[in-house]
Amino acid sequence: MCGIVGYAGHHQAAPLLLDGLSKLEYRGYDSAGLCVQGENGFQVAKAKGRLQVLREQVHDGQDLIGTVGIGHTRWATHGAPSDVNSHPQVSDSGRIAVVHNGIIENDAALRADLLAKGVSFHSETDTEAVANLIGWYYEQCGDFVASVRQAVKRIRGSYALGILCEDNPGTIIAVKQDSPLIFGFGKGENFIASDVPAILKYTQTVAYLDDGDMAIFNNEYVTFLNAAGEPVAKQRETITWELAAAERGGYDHFMLKEIYEQPKALRATISPRLMGGRVVLDGLELSKEYLQSLKKIYLVACGSAYYVSVVAKYTIEKACRIPTEAMMASEFRYCDPVVNEHNLVIIISQSGETADTLAALREAKRRGARTLAIVNVVGSAIAKTADDVIYTWAGPEIAVATTKAFTTQLAVVYLLTLAMAEALGTMSQEDYTQVIQGLEKLPEQVESVLCEENVKKIDYVAKRYCDHHDAFYIGRNLDSAICLEGSLKLKEVAYLHSEAYPAGELKHGPISLIEDGTLVVCLATIRELFEKTTSNIKEVKARGADVVCITLEELEGPAEQVADSTIGIPAIHPMLQPTLALIPLQLLAYDVALNRGCDVDKPRNLAKSVTVE
Ligand code: F6R
Repeated sequence: MCGIVGYAGHHQAAPLLLDGLSKLEYRGYDSAGLCVQGENGFQVAKAKGRLQVLREQVHDGQDLIGTVGIGHTRWATHGAPSDVNSHPQVSDSGRIAVVHNGIIENDAALRADLLAKGVSFHSETDTEAVANLIGWYYEQCGDFVASVRQAVKRIRGSYALGILCEDNPGTIIAVKQDSPLIFGFGKGENFIASDVPAILKYTQTVAYLDDGDMAIFNNEYVTFLNAAGEPVAKQRETITWELAAAERGGYDHFMLKEIYEQPKALRATISPRLMGGRVVLDGLELSKEYLQSLKKIYLVACGSAYYVSVVAKYTIEKACRIPTEAMMASEFRYCDPVVNEHNLVIIISQSGETADTLAALREAKRRGARTLAIVNVVGSAIAKTADDVIYTWAGPEIAVATTKAFTTQLAVVYLLTLAMAEALGTMSQEDYTQVIQGLEKLPEQVESVLCEENVKKIDYVAKRYCDHHDAFYIGRNLDSAICLEGSLKLKEVAYLHSEAYPAGELKHGPISLIEDGTLVVCLATIRELFEKTTSNIKEVKARGADVVCITLEELEGPAEQVADSTIGIPAIHPMLQPTLALIPLQLLAYDVALNRGCDVDKPRNLAKSVTVE
């Protein structure tokens, strides 16, 4: 989604803002812009397309002179990507410039009101309504802070705003509601950004703004106000990871780097939580009495995180015998779910900022449920809002298509399942110990799936099938849940139409689409279901499909009898097998995308952190 950077300091702002914006490119955007405040007022440059277009337009920032400015990468919501719709948006009065992430829900009403007052609009954006609203109040009172405060009272929706006022050179006001914004403390310079990588090169000391917070700052000073306008002291946090973690480090793409980072991310997520052969979960209290009182567990998330929830449904129900339901956050909110104090609602999110997921979390709390978030980004809105949080220690995930966040979320699901099963006594000691031992070796097992032999096989398969038009991912039970994620990866990065079906369901309709040359990727990693799944392979082969089968190494021989290509993965405890099954699917999607010439790290139309509904 959109990215914001703001700078007030002693260096030239434009090159620094361009550099910061380049670190936010991964979030997805379609245009970019800058406003630098110089001796002669605002200098605005905006361009549709990649940041490089803007960079060339302003000669790497040299054309804009001044040490204070705001920059933006825009992911279009109101109005097509265009120069005029790009941010910053400047008020009709010319005195206020605004960059904005989020959506202003009462844009139409604000526009109508301002038009009636004689204010003109030049773009289709909701952001222009904000710029004009602040501009209008400023014309009335001549006070920058007061006009922003008045405007904010009238805005409905989600926003992170960076605002300049022509009459207040050197000062930036930042304010946020339901859209992330951080403040960076420097020496003789201060920053705002929608995400840490944008400013990490310049400072590691940040404060996370809460909803309603306002930061009024220049190069030396900052004042934080809360929603009531009272001064507040914000906690200074130190970012512990380094910029290198958010750079490609020799890999061609972030997606590939993050695929290979999975063993490390899994170790970091699992090891601190295994002590003396038991799971210890960050002080989380889940007593037997509490768990027995639960009528149902809900897992609520979006996209890939939702698919983690689907895996978790199988895993938790099997091990803990508690009815469990996976729900998409965007549906959960509006379906009047039967949720109350007898439910635990587990929220899963890499970014911790996804608008639908955050709204679902609030809804669950409103209905009296206890909430537990599994989140990657420390200090994010979801982490702060949930009753309990368990972090995935995946490190910054930059590629739009998630990989390491997914597998670390799964790892937390395994840990949580074990902790609940132990408390409830629903798992035999032997089984429990085997899963713990499996978890200990999971990172190295992932490493072994990433071996050269598999990589070569997957390269070959990707080359062979990259021109296919349709793909089906089939599997049974936990394999079918992982098929959902494998299929999404292919859609996202390779733009290849793909569907995931439980293998047994195929014959109830979708098999009519199988014809010569349809690609079928079959996951058959569950020993007891192997024969049933190979029957399904035969059914699609009989109708002309090309079949790639991912199975246990020990079953590769029989799989070769029915499939065109096979990839073997090591066996591990069945509960943990989904993690190993997914790795070849991640690589396959990546390789197919490369073969199809797709921009893997910036897939079209997608954004990393979806902060609008
Ligand atoms: C797919 C992907 C998305 C996210 C979804 C939720 O590769 O990354 O489907 O999983 O947008 O995002 P988070 O986990 O940040 O809530």
